[in-house]
Formats: sequence, C-alpha cells, structure tokens
Amino acid sequence: MAYWNARQYLKFEDERTRPPRDLLAQVPLRHPRRVLDLGCGPGNSTELLVERFPDAEIAGLDSSPDMLREARQRLPQCSFIEANMTAWTPEPDTELLFGNAVFQWVPDHERVMRGLLAALPAGGVLAVQMPDNTRELVTALQRDVAARGPWAGDPRIKAAARADLPSPEAYYDLLKPVCTAVDIWHCVYNHVMDSPQAIVEWFKGSSLRPYLAALDAASREAFLAAYSEKIAEAYKPRFDGKLLLRFPRLFIVAVR
Ligand SMILES: C[S@@+](CC[C@H](N)C(=O)[O-])C[C@H]1O[C@@H](n2cnc3c(N)ncnc32)[C@H](O)[C@@H]1O
Repeated sequence: MAYWNARQYLKFEDERTRPPRDLLAQVPLRHPRRVLDLGCGPGNSTELLVERFPDAEIAGLDSSPDMLREARQRLPQCSFIEANMTAWTPEPDTELLFGNAVFQWVPDHERVMRGLLAALPAGGVLAVQMPDNTRELVTALQRDVAARGPWAGDPRIKAAARADLPSPEAYYDLLKPVCTAVDIWHCVYNHVMDSPQAIVEWFKGSSLRPYLAALDAASREAFLAAYSEKIAEAYKPRFDGKLLLRFPRLFIVAVR
C-alpha cells in the first residue's frame, strides 16, 4: 500500500475541497448528533462538517498516520481515529457517514457501503463522492506509461490502475433496497491548471501513488518524465497559457 502524503495532497486543497462542499450541500440533515468523516485525510472535509454542524459530535477516521497528524493539528476539537474503514462499525447513534474521495480506494467498496449503511439509524445518511475519471486522458496516459516502460511486467504496476466505477444504475440497485431515498449525480469540473507539471503534481497526490510506490527512485523519475511528456502533448495551453483539467466525479447521497 502506497503511503499518503498530506503535504502533496494539500497542494491543491482548494480544488480538492470543492467536491465535498458540493456533496455536503445535498445532505438532508439539520442537526445530526454524531457525524463520521470516513477517509478524512488532512481534515479539509472534516472542517466543512464542523462548519455546517457546529453542535454535532464530529470525528474523522483514516488509515494514514501522516494524514491524521495534519488533521489533528487543524481541528484539535475533533477526535480522529486511525483505522481501516473496511473493518469499522460506526457508533450506534451516528447519523451521517461522509466519505469524500475515499471509497474508490477501498477494495469491494460496494459491500463496504452496504455494511456501513446497515449501521445507520432510520433517516441516517451515507454521503459519498468518488472521482469518475478512469476514462479521462489524464488516467489513460498513466496506464499508457505503465504499459510501455521497463516496469511493464511488474505485477504491482499492472495492479496500480483503478478500475472503472460501477454505473449509477448499479449503485441505485445496490443501495435503494436498504434506503428510503438515493440521489446520484455527476459533476464535471474543469480545473484551471498553471502548467502540465501542475497536473502531474496533482496526481502525485492521488492516482499516481500506487504506480510510484511500486518503483525504485530511478524508475520513479523515468516514469514521471514519460508521463509529464505525454501530459504536455495532450493538454494544450489556453489563450493565457493555463490548461483545463477535465475532472468528472460521481456523487451519492443515500438516506436510510
Ligand atoms: C483522497 S483522500 C480524501 C481526503 C478528504 N476526505 C478530502 O475530502 O479531500 C483519501 C483518504 O482516504 C484514506 N483511506 C484510503 N483507504 C482507506 C481505508 N480503507 N480506511 C480508512 N482510510 C482510508 C487515505 O489515507 C486518505 O487520507
């Protein structure tokens, strides 16, 4: 498992925090007693929960010590739990489970979602956002570089690409039988990036991690150089030199 690095992740904090804002805006709860931020990372999504629900007891859960260190510094008033969410049962009176940009990293996440939903009381909410960008150039080029370099035969490199997300229909059929309402939507962001290198830096904090973790230092440099070259070819500068990073994301708000 590749380690998470809070500093790398936070290089694009503003852009990365917009989807959890958009997700939270659709959560139909006014005064939840207990809220859990699953995969809270450095606490950027937890902070939104604190602002929206000042009276709630809010906790963050993450498996990365580096992310949790950052989150604890940022929000000393919250409790943070180091745990793997696949083996976690929320406290019985938890009314909101908020999972922004985490379920795509969880093996068999559909089963995990169902299990977490089952732990919610009637009216409780599971709110989820996942990048749905496996068909975008930016991730296709990662697979391209992975398939062509000297590392191509390494099973860890072969396993590093994320699978496509299931369809909205599949999530509806999965969740609705145990929910009173399921709201699913997509949002496509067009992030303004300064340079091709900025795009590479963004993904060093997320989907490039499993590739880079499988390589030694020299191969890592070679992988990043090949990827940077492809990104520069694929993303053309706009009139002011900036690039637009197209980024589709899938949102789910499921009410028990
Ligand atoms: C992309 S970050 C999301 C951070 C934050 N929620 C946000 O909205 O920007 C994903 C986080 O999920 C955590 N994570 C991944 N798999 C996990 C698991 N099985 N259990 C707990 N945390 C996990 C990682 O450590 C990382 O901090």
